[in-house]
Amino acid sequence: MESAELSELDRLKMRHGEHVILRLTYISRYNSDNPTGEVTRILTQAQQNNERNGITGALVFNHNYFLQSIEGARPVINELLRKLVEDDRHYALQVIECREVEQRHWSKWSMKYLIPSDENKGLALKFSTGNQFNPYLMNTNQIMMLIDTLSELQEQEEIDASKKKKSWFSLS
Ligand SMILES: Cc1cc2nc3c(=O)[nH]c(=O)nc-3n(C[C@H](O)[C@H](O)[C@H](O)COP(=O)(O)O)c2cc1C
Repeated sequence: MESAELSELDRLKMRHGEHVILRLTYISRYNSDNPTGEVTRILTQAQQNNERNGITGALVFNHNYFLQSIEGARPVINELLRKLVEDDRHYALQVIECREVEQRHWSKWSMKYLIPSDENKGLALKFSTGNQFNPYLMNTNQIMMLIDTLSELQEQEEIDASKKKKSWFSLS
């Protein structure tokens, strides 16, 4: 009985496209005139909602620009896109890429926050066109490579920092 009910629920979800996982990447400009738009507040809200809604992803904030990749069930991603377009804490949202994926890329994070550190801020320029960071001048490949490379570097920095901490403790 229970399994019949479950498969009915699964069928219902499938009718809405819930079995299809979409990854959507966009860029937008931060609205610095909005007094309730602190980035930490946006991030906390994103992480809490995403955990509830089965969304994973990464958010880059650099020079008042956002780059965000969100992945999850197709109807859920479409619903979030509608909310994002209407959110006046950012504007000029442009979709960079939207594709169906077999596996999630950001499966460990409800929303991984990536902010270029002093050490790797030159990287953002490396993938940019021109000598100022502006994702609106970048093509899809450059944007995807930037997000991935920032993520890898940040993970490496975290590993190095925890190694340093361990060796400091073993000395003291
Ligand atoms: C740059 C940016 C990124 C955001 N990312 C997310 C997100 O990943 N998930 C999410 O639920 N809301 C995100 N939001 C907030 C949504 O635009 C919207 O305010 C929120 O989903 C509404 O949630 P509610 O219906 O629970 O009030 C983001 C907003 C901004 C400005």
